[in-house]
Amino acid sequence: MNKLTVRDIDVTGKRVFVRVDFNVPMDEAKNITNDKRITAVLPTLGYLREKGAKIILASHLGRPKGKVNPKFSLAPVAKRLAALLHTEVKMAPDCVGPVVEGLAAGLQNGEVLLLENVRFHAEEEANDPGFARQLAQLADIFVNDAFGVAHRAHASTAGIAAYIPGVAGFLLEKELNFLGQALARPEKPFVAIIGGAKVSDKIGVIENLLAKVDTLIIGGGMANTFLRARGYQTGKSLVEEDKVALAAQTLAKARQYGVSLLLPVDVVVADRFAADACFRTVLAEEIPAGWQVLDIGPATIIAYKNALQDAKTIVWNGPMGVFEFENFAQGTYAVAKAVAEAQGISIVGGGDSSAAIEKAGLSDKITHVSTGGGASLKFLEGKELKGISALRDKETAKGE
Ligand code: 3PG
Repeated sequence: MNKLTVRDIDVTGKRVFVRVDFNVPMDEAKNITNDKRITAVLPTLGYLREKGAKIILASHLGRPKGKVNPKFSLAPVAKRLAALLHTEVKMAPDCVGPVVEGLAAGLQNGEVLLLENVRFHAEEEANDPGFARQLAQLADIFVNDAFGVAHRAHASTAGIAAYIPGVAGFLLEKELNFLGQALARPEKPFVAIIGGAKVSDKIGVIENLLAKVDTLIIGGGMANTFLRARGYQTGKSLVEEDKVALAAQTLAKARQYGVSLLLPVDVVVADRFAADACFRTVLAEEIPAGWQVLDIGPATIIAYKNALQDAKTIVWNGPMGVFEFENFAQGTYAVAKAVAEAQGISIVGGGDSSAAIEKAGLSDKITHVSTGGGASLKFLEGKELKGISALRDKETAKGE
């Protein structure tokens, strides 16, 4: 990674503004149901505390649309973080203003303050320079460890770096190293599995990966659009009619690049979109009228498993079917298992595939499960992530 990290700067006694992604799921009673995004930044926080930094944490939670809404308060996160860090975590009533400035100024070395949800202010998502400056006034240094939101140019993820020097935290560094290595210098064979509902959501990733992979596996609702491009009937399945031509072009491009592009050879079809729908397995070219594809079939699972067996690098993004419904979850879980069993480096990104890996209890068998959904997708598309470009370059710093 060509960005400075916390290791490259002196943080002792400094007020360090750490942008984290504490956008964690909670139940009705505000219990955190998955704290992976909190535990993922503990290495950075542990390092900063050990070095005697004064830590000011900032995050968003949900999409409160620029208004204060107690439903999206980060207070439950402060409690969980305190338990994980075995230290007090002070909870600020806001993220800017005189009271918050006082709390930040009063921090002792090693102490931790969590600011209230930055998205309670509309200026955050607008990347308002005045607001970014107010955030910057709280600290001497900006550390970005919020990979999940690194694709957003918001005040606390990018704008703030115009006022105080910005460096990467360990989570950001780890995410970029794994994803960057997979794209720039993948050990071959390199197999990508792309699923999810829509071609339009993933076409950028597919186009970027086609030039790099040996095999591209397609699953999920988007596979139907590709099946249509092959000339198959798809019944009542989800198909993006306006993307059929694009899918056909992608198939042609894969042939041109010598990429083996795998589509379902059999599918599980249902008579309606429901957990208790009637279902059966049919060949991909024999999808009956009035039925819809909700999962890949058993022969497809075997073909996909075979393709993954000898892969040295695997990138997986997106489910193979409607895995929220038990009857249509086989494909996604079988792929999760095959990815976990593969010998090579495995990288899983995207909310649904990461959730499937966790639900199957396979997280520790995956080389890297990304904490970013949209961010990992943008990265795989080869796009610039604004929260990362705002940080200081190693090369530029050398010349100073
Ligand atoms: C996520 O959950 O993917 C990140 O926290 C980003 O959230 P956002 O899509 O609301 O910006």
